[in-house]
Amino acid sequence: SSHPSGHHSGHNRNMPSNASDTVEVAALTGDISAPADIKFELVAQMREVTLASGAKIEAWTYNGEIAPELRARYGDMVEVKLINKDIAKGVTIHWHGYNVPNAMDGVPGMTQNVVKPGESFTYKFRAEQEGTYWFHSHQQASEQVEKGLFGSLIVESRQETEIYDEAFTIINHQWVTNQGDKTAFGNQDLIQMKKVEPGKKIKLRIINTHNQSRKYLLQGVDYQITSMDGMRIQKPDLLTDRTAFRLASGGRYDVVFTMPDGSVLFKLGDYKNDEDPGIIFYEDTPPANPSFKKESNLFDPSQYGEPVINELTSDTEFDRQFKMILGNKMGFYDGKIQFLWTINGEVYPNIPTFMVKEGEKIKTTFINKSITEHPMHLHGHHMTVLKKNGKKVMTPWLTDTLNVYAGETYEVAFIADNPGMWMDHCHNLEHAKTGMILHLMYD
Ligand code: C2O
Ligand code: CU
Repeated sequence: SSHPSGHHSGHNRNMPSNASDTVEVAALTGDISAPADIKFELVAQMREVTLASGAKIEAWTYNGEIAPELRARYGDMVEVKLINKDIAKGVTIHWHGYNVPNAMDGVPGMTQNVVKPGESFTYKFRAEQEGTYWFHSHQQASEQVEKGLFGSLIVESRQETEIYDEAFTIINHQWVTNQGDKTAFGNQDLIQMKKVEPGKKIKLRIINTHNQSRKYLLQGVDYQITSMDGMRIQKPDLLTDRTAFRLASGGRYDVVFTMPDGSVLFKLGDYKNDEDPGIIFYEDTPPANPSFKKESNLFDPSQYGEPVINELTSDTEFDRQFKMILGNKMGFYDGKIQFLWTINGEVYPNIPTFMVKEGEKIKTTFINKSITEHPMHLHGHHMTVLKKNGKKVMTPWLTDTLNVYAGETYEVAFIADNPGMWMDHCHNLEHAKTGMILHLMYD
């Protein structure tokens, strides 16, 4: 895996090209004068990698690996040196869901220059959110993420408030291989078997890097969802073993269960499809014919645990209110007529920028008038979900990537507390490529 490197880098940090004169540069970089507590090096490189089934991928990777994991502790000053070995169009690293200072956000042409072959860029930020995150290149992201330029960022909590005996990071991704498309947990495209002692508390850190939302089944035990998008749920209810849950593209859930006597079956996708990857946790002998059952209900974050308490409620007086009508139309892209994905009828870069001032309370309404779901991802801030389809949700929750299905409306809010220029876009990266991006800018 990606070992923290022990040497100092002769880095050349590019200054943000769009920093307006009125914004202090320190606000954009954060206070990074303290020495790093932990350092990593990620070398972007082409590499053929092989899945468990033997299928081969002409992958683009960090460090030649599928989904390398960076692990830090809450409070650490983290330094990550990105070196581009041979990715021709250049790379960056965006810390998805991690609300880093703007200059560290990894958006080429906006917060930094793209890192070309032979060049490097050093990211440095304080780990001020615990939990399960991921990172990926934001240069031509739909192609680069699909090919493998991503990994996980795990920040362990400061106090041992969350006790578990063993944790597994599960990144599901859809790979293009020499045997066709394969969905895998990391490089595991088959059902895996894991022996676990009864009574052990197991945590699954689940990350969806696929362009669409995915459903998961966990059976044989009742379980809890303890975090969503890295944000801890207060008093998570126990979910019955036939409860399926669905993760937005780019979203993360931490799932916790206590190993029973017997087996626990976990898989991606539908109960009938055994092409999808899964993990069977067993006590002493793996079950001969593990079989999944149809789920009886679907997890609903709008009524789970306790509502997140912050200064944002549906009765808040907002300083600004934005509306994002998500739509689609036919139009020219890449010289051909195809589907374009629109916000308020326009395609990036023609969608007007949302302007905010530091300290303001902002409400955004997503209205999906298109034919499919859109996982809406805001950089640099977490959103508090307040209303769904016009009605207050029972348990407002925090998210960085909210899946909005066709026909749905959501009201979300955030505090403008991270100055800079940020993207707000659909995390179906194909949709982002063909239009569905706007900018949020502090003036
Ligand atoms: Cu995970 Cu703008 O991206
Ligand atoms: Cu979309």
